[in-house]
Amino acid sequence: MECIIREATIDDCEHLMGLIQEIATYHHLENEITINAQVLKADGFGKDPFFKCLLAEQPGEKGCKPGRPIGHALYFFGYSVNHGKMLYLENLYVVSEFRGKGIGMELLRKVAENALATGCMEMKFMTMDWNRRAKAFYERLGAHDTTESEDFHCMELGRDALERLVQKGSKGQP
Ligand SMILES: CC(C)(COP(=O)(O)OP(=O)(O)OC[C@H]1O[C@@H](n2cnc3c(N)ncnc32)[C@H](O)[C@@H]1OP(=O)(O)O)[C@@H](O)C(=O)NCCC(=O)NCCS
Repeated sequence: MECIIREATIDDCEHLMGLIQEIATYHHLENEITINAQVLKADGFGKDPFFKCLLAEQPGEKGCKPGRPIGHALYFFGYSVNHGKMLYLENLYVVSEFRGKGIGMELLRKVAENALATGCMEMKFMTMDWNRRAKAFYERLGAHDTTESEDFHCMELGRDALERLVQKGSKGQP
């Protein structure tokens, strides 16, 4: 299917927030979301952007602006002590009625292009265990499951835990 892939701008943040809410709902994680469009604007389009984002949209009729984005890929850069520069893909999402038409693959292909253009050696991402279709989609591209092959577990410290950790450190200071 013909679609346009372009970099998101600050003016896309309301739509982008809608897509982020949809993918969270898809993963039954809608109650986990604490950000909003304002946060996206500040974090992605300020002086030191924390993420980059590609949007997929349908071409508009002649003379008309394209409509609401139908998919997105949100990513950021990181560093692996094993391999060097890496890209982390946080979200890949295509609106349900547009799935299976090659849009997800095209978004991912552009992300891969950006990874290579910036000298990245790998792209990392997570999928839920039950999301077999997404897992199969990535595996067909050559992805391997590091939880299975290397027993990696994905862990995180939330804001409260981070604050407790900082407090703990300061108690030991003279
Ligand atoms: C995964 C996803 C981004 C792929 O985008 P897409 O535009 O449907 O993908 P393409 O048309 O380029 O390729 C289709 C492939 O996607 C895979 N796929 C994964 N999840 C799918 C879903 N929920 N519906 C349809 N296809 C899906 C299929 O295996 C399909 O391959 P097939 O045609 O050989 O069966 C999209 O289906 C989606 O947004 N799914 C829901 C959210 C999700 O699972 N995101 C990834 C989480 S890490």
